[in-house]
Amino acid sequence: MPARTLDAIPPYVFYELDARRARHRAAGKQLLDVGIGSPDGPIPEVVVEAMRTAAGERALSGYPFFQGHPRFADAATQYMARRFGVTLDPRHEFLALAGSKEGIAELIQAHVDPGDAVLVPAVHYPVYARATLLAGAEPVFVPLLADGRMDVDAIDAATMRRARVMIVNYPGNPTTATVPFEELTRLVDFARQHKLLLLSDLAYSELAYDGYRVPSLLEVPGAMDVVVETHTCSKSFNMAGVRCAFMVGQRAAIARVDGYRANIGYGVSTLAQLAGAAAFTHADTIVPPIVHEYNGRRDALVLALRDAGWPVTAPRATMYLWLDVPAGYDDWGWVDALMGGPGVVVTPGLAFGDAGRGKFRVSLVQPADVLERVAGFLGELRTTEA
Ligand SMILES: Cc1ncc(COP(=O)(O)O)c(C=O)c1O
Repeated sequence: MPARTLDAIPPYVFYELDARRARHRAAGKQLLDVGIGSPDGPIPEVVVEAMRTAAGERALSGYPFFQGHPRFADAATQYMARRFGVTLDPRHEFLALAGSKEGIAELIQAHVDPGDAVLVPAVHYPVYARATLLAGAEPVFVPLLADGRMDVDAIDAATMRRARVMIVNYPGNPTTATVPFEELTRLVDFARQHKLLLLSDLAYSELAYDGYRVPSLLEVPGAMDVVVETHTCSKSFNMAGVRCAFMVGQRAAIARVDGYRANIGYGVSTLAQLAGAAAFTHADTIVPPIVHEYNGRRDALVLALRDAGWPVTAPRATMYLWLDVPAGYDDWGWVDALMGGPGVVVTPGLAFGDAGRGKFRVSLVQPADVLERVAGFLGELRTTEA
């Protein structure tokens, strides 16, 4: 028998998508996959070289340091200082993570008990809600306003009394939402007022276009008292398979996550951390070509969609487009029509919570010419059914 908490969790929509994709592939169908947010570019050479060197290091024969390798801690905190102007103590305000997904789940486990609530954006990266349920607590979905801000005024007083953690994700997956800096200040004030730990998931800190610079929540004066932020190598450096990320911010929270994890694991592979150290050290040279490539893909897809009759706005960050399911289809109906017809795989919006229904996500994980073909297929199918 599974644990009751595990049993109570609704099926993972990405599993269902995988199953449908596998059925089509088994039937010999060629698929154009723009469903998953897994980078298709190579790991940067400077990181590959660092991994080769690291593989020969004696440090690898022993268990990693619980909190993180000092070289990774230094590289990550120096990056935070250079990139965001945020000064951190690498010994107490940093924790290495085997991916930010795992780190977010560990942070939730370390901070909530059954009966507590975690405030989650209504349209969200699934781990926020699922890790909360696994901890026996309740994810409370905060509605998103049209401009992407969280409607915190919609949360009732009884829920606020049970709330321990609030999660924010700007730039957002899948919404691509970004908010002005004043909004980050407002969120920090709100967290302080209600004694919440504010978790900022900054997975897309570097994937921004048109001169937009993604801010850190830790730039807000006084944020260190209430904020913990996750950063990852996965998207910025094409390293999703390496599993390397970090958490920075409020000391007490970092210590709790470190303490929680010490009970169940040994922290993060030293090899991955040394790869991460190289990536964050060389971020200034690694990131621009990666962003340039996504920018070209975004522009190609947006133009091709407009040519195909879709009214789309170009997102200024992330590696996604978040689009409306055309009239006449429900979420799975649209996904199946695309997969079974032209063989295009997209992610249904309901994968990101009920509030995501009626939308779907396209990832920029194919070259520009493939994305242009995808846009053509989307346009054709929409026109056929309209
Ligand atoms: C918003 C967001 N947070 C976290 C993650 C997970 O990243 P990692 O590979 O660091 O676990 C993703 C991956 O898609 C994401 O979109």
